[in-house]
This record gives sequence, structure tokens and C-alpha cells, in this order.
Amino acid sequence: MWNSWILVAGLALLCTSSAMQVDYDANAMIIDGERKLIFSGAIHYPRSTPEMWPDLIKKAKDGGLNAIETYIFWNAHEPRPRQYNFSGNLDFIKFFKLVHEAGLYGILRIGPYVCAEWNYGGFPVWLHNIDGIELRTNNEIYKKEMQIFTTKIVEMCKEANLFAPQGGPIILSQIENEYGNIMDKYKEKGKEYVKWCAEMAVAQNVGVPWIMCQQGDAPQPMINTCNGFYCDQFKPNNQKSPKMFTENWTGWFKKWGQKDPYRTAEDLAYSVARFFQLGGVLINYYMYHGGTNFGRTSGGPYITTSYDYNAPLDEYGNLNQPKWGHLKQLHEALRVGEKFLTNGTSETKDSGDGIQLTTFTDGQTGERFCFLSNTNNNKDVNVDLKDDGMHFVPAWSVSILGACKKEIYNSAKVNTQTSVMVKKQIGDEDKSAQFNWTWTLEPMRDTLEGKGTFSANTLLEQKRASDDLSDYLWYMTSVDINGTSFNEGTIFANSSGQVVHAYVNGRLIGTKSGYSFQFRNPVSLVPGRNNITLLSVTVGLQNYGDHFDLGPEGVTGPVGLIDVGNKTIDLSSNAWNYKVGLNGEAKKLYDPNSPNLQLWRTSEELPIGRPMTWYKTAFKAPSGTDPVVLDLMGMGKGHAWINGNSIGRFWPSQIADNNGCTDECDYRGAYKEQKCLSNCGNPSQRWYHVPRSFITSGTNFLVLFEEIGGDPSEVSFQTVTTGSICANANEGSLLELSCHGGNVISKIEFASYGNPKGRCGSLTKGSCEAEGSLSALEKICVGKESCTVDVSEKTFGSADCGEDKKSLAVEALCENQMVYLRELKKKKNQS
Ligand code: GAL
Repeated sequence: MWNSWILVAGLALLCTSSAMQVDYDANAMIIDGERKLIFSGAIHYPRSTPEMWPDLIKKAKDGGLNAIETYIFWNAHEPRPRQYNFSGNLDFIKFFKLVHEAGLYGILRIGPYVCAEWNYGGFPVWLHNIDGIELRTNNEIYKKEMQIFTTKIVEMCKEANLFAPQGGPIILSQIENEYGNIMDKYKEKGKEYVKWCAEMAVAQNVGVPWIMCQQGDAPQPMINTCNGFYCDQFKPNNQKSPKMFTENWTGWFKKWGQKDPYRTAEDLAYSVARFFQLGGVLINYYMYHGGTNFGRTSGGPYITTSYDYNAPLDEYGNLNQPKWGHLKQLHEALRVGEKFLTNGTSETKDSGDGIQLTTFTDGQTGERFCFLSNTNNNKDVNVDLKDDGMHFVPAWSVSILGACKKEIYNSAKVNTQTSVMVKKQIGDEDKSAQFNWTWTLEPMRDTLEGKGTFSANTLLEQKRASDDLSDYLWYMTSVDINGTSFNEGTIFANSSGQVVHAYVNGRLIGTKSGYSFQFRNPVSLVPGRNNITLLSVTVGLQNYGDHFDLGPEGVTGPVGLIDVGNKTIDLSSNAWNYKVGLNGEAKKLYDPNSPNLQLWRTSEELPIGRPMTWYKTAFKAPSGTDPVVLDLMGMGKGHAWINGNSIGRFWPSQIADNNGCTDECDYRGAYKEQKCLSNCGNPSQRWYHVPRSFITSGTNFLVLFEEIGGDPSEVSFQTVTTGSICANANEGSLLELSCHGGNVISKIEFASYGNPKGRCGSLTKGSCEAEGSLSALEKICVGKESCTVDVSEKTFGSADCGEDKKSLAVEALCENQMVYLRELKKKKNQS
């Protein structure tokens, strides 16, 4: 009996605890003795849903990653002191377990300051409001709170056996975040704080190495790492530390009123290949999936609800092609060289003029693996490697050469399809027929009459006054103008951001928004007492910079009146009443189960362009499995909910200006965040992601709170799907074409094997072509969800192009499989 118990216990241990020892040296992560390169991608669990996680993780794995990284978001987990939330999409334990089940490693970036374009960089606002606290420096109160939270997260991970030595996926942990970028502003106390962070982290005994990013003075055993668009020149501060690129920005984030930044696949691949050429060990794509800032989680100010980031997986979880595929091929090529790269015997020869050849050699077998790079911005080069052949290396690219002879990858030669995603209208062509709107006005009588819940004889900073429990803070005062000249004049109010709506005696007189601005408007006052109500609105709290946490928000003043003769009354030290939030929020009007159903009106005409209005409609779930978006064209600014789940703030009336967009962005030369822009002249964000799990198969409810006035008649649900695909692949490659998500290739619009010209959307035949290009491709691909094409004469026949290298250009349409089959049947019946 006793023996068999030991056997069972032993077996259980064997099954559950494939404990892994994590170690490293300058050339490799050493996991259970195996020397490895790490290809990791950031997926922030609260920026998607638990239902989306398995698919995102699978796509990351299919894309050649062996690790997933996430920050931990303190203010989401501890919204009030010691009241924790780890449920739903905050269940990071479940997230890491899924990572583990998929056979991937995990990287835990605790911070707990995270930046991340997340509200207030992840800090809870209650923390800022503790007397005597100073954030991110050597301050006892702050350090105590940071330690409590860090310990809590570590303990939860330990309890769930998530660290590698416990048999879990986590191989690295991070403390703080890019403190080195701003540390000098904190003087000596900053340096002391870094030491304390390191000691506190090490004392957590997590059993895996700790990293500190952008922290040149990180004390041992902390590994300092690099973040940026390029990190090939980075050197860790200790000879034994591996060279890690903890954030390779795959694109960039977007702000309200701005254009869409994007980064080309060629440049991103170049940056990664250069990094490994010069001794890199770990890369983490920030972001691999950007996702959505649900609720009030976006940072800022002014970060949009979409956090798509132009990442390899788009906001909805679709493959962003060609980026995803081009990186997948890069990972495959790097894997071929893994044993060479991780043993560290390499030599880099500079042949001048931006050409570098790095040769990795296996000390035992003498086998070789090479990187050949061309860092010129615009000069393509033919490099003669003598016995190892002639190699064409385009400007700003890296070739990876198997056995130093055969090009197995070049970062500028994309052999992956481009997918053009389209939004499809659902059902009825007439959009307005989708919805039967009901509405109600935000109840504001109390605040318009100056009634608040607390008062002060001063203008309060908004974070202090509201604890960030809502975007909205009411500032209310009154002024008696009897015996004065102030019946006509101007009202002004200085705000530190981001929106002010001003009401005088119950009437809206104007609205203004900005980072820091003065609201100014003509005003007519009545004899006697006048009520002045200012509604201040935040749009994401600042998340970056030294002392960012101290940046003020709200109506910080002065506030006053100016008469026609230019005399001023300063109202800043008046008696001010305050109220946090909207009555509609308190009454949970966004929740279809709220008890205040009688407030919704159906009988009168739907208000259009009316500020402070709530709209509600029922709707049926869009069929299929394609991701769903809500098109909010016509709406002004506000917040949207599906069945009580927030899908975030909307502000489609913020339009990006008309200049500076490029359809084609030259990947050559150093990238920076404003280099490649799209979406000029359009709303910064028109479509809002509605995760499928927010929708039921029965009746669903959409609620919109409109703050500045909008027209809901244009609002509609759409699905996102692959509309067409195109590709340009070189002779000798295997081209995979795929429509994804139950869609099939319904028609080949263009195919030419020879020397075709042009880009996606405008492809044309060149001077030579294999005659049967189109029909050959139709046979292989039409009707299929995906197909693999051997780009060679074997497939297409002779192209008669002489000695020139040939290529294949393709453009194909995608269609829902059911629709395709229906059409096919119709055609057959007709013939
Ligand atoms: C880094 C930061 C990330 C993110 C990124 C920009 O500085 O560590 O959290 O904010 O910039 O997307």
C-alpha cells in the first residue's frame, strides 16, 4: 500500500512537474541544458478575451514563436486597495496555462509600472492619492505598495506552478520598465530605487532570471535588455549576459485625431535578422497581437480604443499578411542556424560600404552558417563570396546563407502573400433597418443646478477628486453679478485636459478639447445668481515620461469672467461643488439588466446631434465566425457597450489630417514611428471590435453614450474577412496562398509566371510569361481554402525569359465557402 502510494506520487510528479532549469550565458538561453534562441511575442491578456487566447497563442506558435510575453496590469487587478480582480480577461494564470499547454515558454513582465499605452501606465490612481507617496523612486510608501503587489503576483504564479523550475512555462521575469530612460530626473533617489528593485525582485526567489529593460546600470544578477526599432548595436552591461531585444516595436500605437502608423515587414525582418547576426539571443515582438483597449484602459492621453499596432496579428486576431508570414520564414531560417548562433564562435568582416559578412562556425565539425548584410539606404550590392558564390543583397537587407553558400532568406525578398482585409455589411442592405433605437437623455438636473456630493474652496485636480472612477468630473460654482458689469462678457476656464463642456444656468455654451488649453466663450449672465457648471472629461491618463504621474488633469484653473471693459473676476477660489461620474453610469444605463428600463423612450423622434444622450438597440448576432466590428460613423464621442460589456471609448469625429500618408512606404533606411502613415483624412477610429464572446445567439443589446452629439442612423455591424490576396514570389520558392477563416479562393484575377510588374492591385504582365500561368494556378487553387504553389517551370511551363530569374505574381479573390459553392451550383445548372 505504502509502496504503491509512493509510486503514484512519483508518477504524478513525473507527469506534472517536468521542471526546467533556466540558465544562460552570453550566447544562449540554456533550458534544461539545451542551448536556445528565444522568439517571443507580446500578447496582453486584457486586450483580448479568454475565448480569443487559444487561437492567438496557436497563431503565434504557427508563426514560429517559442514564447509569449505579457505585462501584468496593476490597476486592472487592484482597482481599489486590496480589492483584487483576476476574473474574465484578467485571469492571467489561465493565460499562462494556455501558453504552457501550447508548448510555449512564458515571459512575465510584472513592472508593475508598465507604460504600454495603458491608463496611467498601469498604476492605480488610488496609489497616487496616498499622502506622502512618490511613485517610481526611493520612497518607502511606494516601495511597500510595489512590493505587496509584486509579491502577490509572484505568489499566484508559484501557487499555479507557473515558473519553469516548477514545471511551468515562465522562463524570465521583469521588474520595472525602461526606468533607465528617465532615471536621471530622479537623481540619487532614482539610483537607490533601481538597487532596491533588483534586491526586492531577487528576494522573490522565482527560480528564473530577472530582466530590466533599458537599464544600463542594472545590478547583477539582473540582465539589462534593449527596446526599440533596432537593437543590433546593443551590448549588455555584463559579459555573461545574453543580448536580449525585449521590445521590437512591430508598428506603433495610434492617438485620436492622428493617422495610422505602420512598419513594413521588410524593415521589421531586417531589424530582427541584424540583431541575430550580431549575437542576439532573444527577441520579443512588441506587439505580436496588439488588440483592443476595452473599457477605460487606454492610456494617453488620447490613445485610441484600437491597439492594433500593425502587429503580425491584427486587432481581431487575423494574420496580418505579409508581416506574419515573412517573420515565420525568418524564424525558420534562424532555427536552421540555432546551433551555430548559440555556440557563439563568430567572426564579422566588414568589407566597407555597408556590407558585413558574419560567419558562425561549429568548432567540432567546421560547418558554417552566415549572415550577409547590406546596411546601405539605397544601394543594392552583388557580393562576391568567391567559393561561396555571388549574392545579390538589396539595400537595407540581410541574407541568411545556409552553409554560408545558399540564400535561405533575405529580409527584403518577401515570398508571402499580402491579404487585403475587407469589412462586410451584415444582412439587410439598408443599414438603418438593422436597428430600432430607443434613447434617453443623461439626467443632469442636479449638476446643472450646481448640486454636487462634495465641495472645496479651490479647483481640484481631477485624479485627486475622482480617483479615476469615471472619465467625468463636474465642477460647479455660482456667481452673483448684481451691482457689477459682468452681465455681458467672456467666461474662461483653463484645463489640463482633455475635454471641457461648459454650462451656464443649465445651458451648454461650448465645448473644447486638447492636451492643455483654455476654454473661452462669450456669455450673457442674468441679474443675481448664475450657475456655472463645467464638465471635465479625461480620455486616458498619461502613461509615459519622468514624473508622468504628477501631470495634472481636469480644470486646474484659473476660471473666471471678463466684462466688456476687460475687468476680470477670478472664480478659482470660489466655493466649488463636485460630483464624480454621470448619473447614467450610476444607474447602469449601459447594462440591459439595469432596473431603470422605464427611462428609455421610444415614442418621440430620435434625437440627432444632441449631446449627452444615451441610445439603445437590440440586435441579432451576425452569422458565421468572422470577427465582428461596430461601424460608428456618424457618432461624435462617447462610450459603447454590448450586453453590458464595454467595447471602449469611441470618437470617430476625430479626423486625421490629410497630409503625409503613403500607400507604399520605402522600407529602406531607419524606421521611426511617423515614417509610414495611412488613413489620412479619415476618422482615426471608425470601427470598434466586438468580440464574438460578447454576443449571444439570442437578442443582444448595443448601448451608446453620446457626449457631443451624433447620428446613430448610420451605425452598423460588419464582419472582417479576407477580401483578396496577392503575392509576388521568386522562382524556386514555395508560395502558400490562403484565404483563412472558412473562406476559399474563388477566382484568380491575375497570374503571370515570367517577369511580371507592378504591385498588389495593379499587377501587369512583363515582357515574358509562361502561357498557361492563369489556368495552371486555377487548377491548383480555386475552390480551396489554401494551396501551395511550387514557383517553377514544372508548374507553369517555360516562360522564355532567357537567363533572367523568373517570378510569379498572383492576385486572387476570397469568398465564403457556402457562397462560393452556391454560385458554383448556379453556374453548373445554367450551363
Ligand atoms: C516602450 C514601453 C512599452 C510601450 C512602448 C511603445 O517604451 O516599454 O510599454 O509603451 O514603448 O509602444
